[in-house]
Amino acid sequence: MSLFDNMLHSDQSLFKNEIALDYSFIPKLIPYRESQQKYIASCIKPLFHERNGKNLLVYGKPGVGKTVACKHIFQELEEETDDVILIYINCWQKNTSFKIMTDICDKLGIKFVQNKKTDELFGMAKNVVNKKAVVFAFDEVDKAEEFDFLYSILEDVYRKSVLLITNYKSWLDNLDERIKSRLSGELLEFKHYDLEETRGILKQRMEYAFVPGAFSKEAFELIVKKTAGLEDIRKGLHLMKEAANIAEDRSSKQISLDDAKKSIGKLDEFSIKDSAELLEDERAILDLVRDGSGGKIGDLFKSYKDKGGSLAYRTFQRKINRLEEGKFVSLEKTEGGVEGNTTIVKLREVNKKLGDF
Ligand SMILES: Nc1ncnc2c1ncn2[C@@H]1O[C@H](COP(=O)(O)OP(=O)(O)O)[C@@H](O)[C@H]1O
Ligand SMILES: [Mg+2]
Repeated sequence: MSLFDNMLHSDQSLFKNEIALDYSFIPKLIPYRESQQKYIASCIKPLFHERNGKNLLVYGKPGVGKTVACKHIFQELEEETDDVILIYINCWQKNTSFKIMTDICDKLGIKFVQNKKTDELFGMAKNVVNKKAVVFAFDEVDKAEEFDFLYSILEDVYRKSVLLITNYKSWLDNLDERIKSRLSGELLEFKHYDLEETRGILKQRMEYAFVPGAFSKEAFELIVKKTAGLEDIRKGLHLMKEAANIAEDRSSKQISLDDAKKSIGKLDEFSIKDSAELLEDERAILDLVRDGSGGKIGDLFKSYKDKGGSLAYRTFQRKINRLEEGKFVSLEKTEGGVEGNTTIVKLREVNKKLGDF
């Protein structure tokens, strides 16, 4: 055996189709989400029979397939019908009513939108959608900073389904009553995948993305377990890509257990990068937690105020809850003691829970 048998030639790669590891890649099949997709479809179905659709709040932690399931349904519908207009908007990118209305007009192919106000834009959009039926999906709706757009749509669009997608079910609690009562929607939870489901999903992606045999069994299995523990498929896609890059760096034809371990070791860095997705004030609060980890929420709020923070305590608390839901921090409630009940906010170490495979 030659010394170089196990090495990649410079024109070779472990990747067959790297795009398949992109978070926005939509596979042909979305396994383990059939029943959720059916449920969403049943909310939309009445629109095909000249009736009104149902509204739906889709919720679940990050990386459990909410976005991909909804986009998949839209893709299928697009192929089947022209009778129902489909509009998908990500409220992280479009976070004001004006931006959302501009985007809607754009997606409807409405021209001459320059210098128009939000109301005027909505007027034009309404004229188009009210000639047919429409499904709106507002993804990451909790990132929107105002909700006039939602009110207008619920009030003035006749035949519609509004799908709201969020990581936080609690988002609904803080929603304006005017909107909540008009929404009167159903709830659909996306639970995290178990070990077997995680394996199935990552295997499918592995087959799309890598040349056969690129992953050693042990390397793949380690990533599957780690991902299942973190309950976030996105992290698994990231780990597969990282491990492959590490293997390629050493010109190996196969991704070894050690490459997988190294990719997991780098995950902490990744979670920090991930926090770039937080809103500015959430990030500022996370930085405070990072500085004085283990602090009482009251003290944290005080140093937040000292640094010129402008949020009221309740909003601050809500931000902390969101950081917890996003797994950036953990909260510990203490009872009794001299100061009565309080909450201790701690920085969450991504690998703590699963360090020992
Ligand atoms: N059931 C599934 N089948 C195939 N891919 C999935 C499935 N669930 C999640 N994914 C993939 O995992 C990643 C995260 O899913 P996504 O829908 O973006 O999560 P969420 O919107 O819940 O945060 C995406 O790349 C997506 O394609
Ligand atoms: Mg999503």
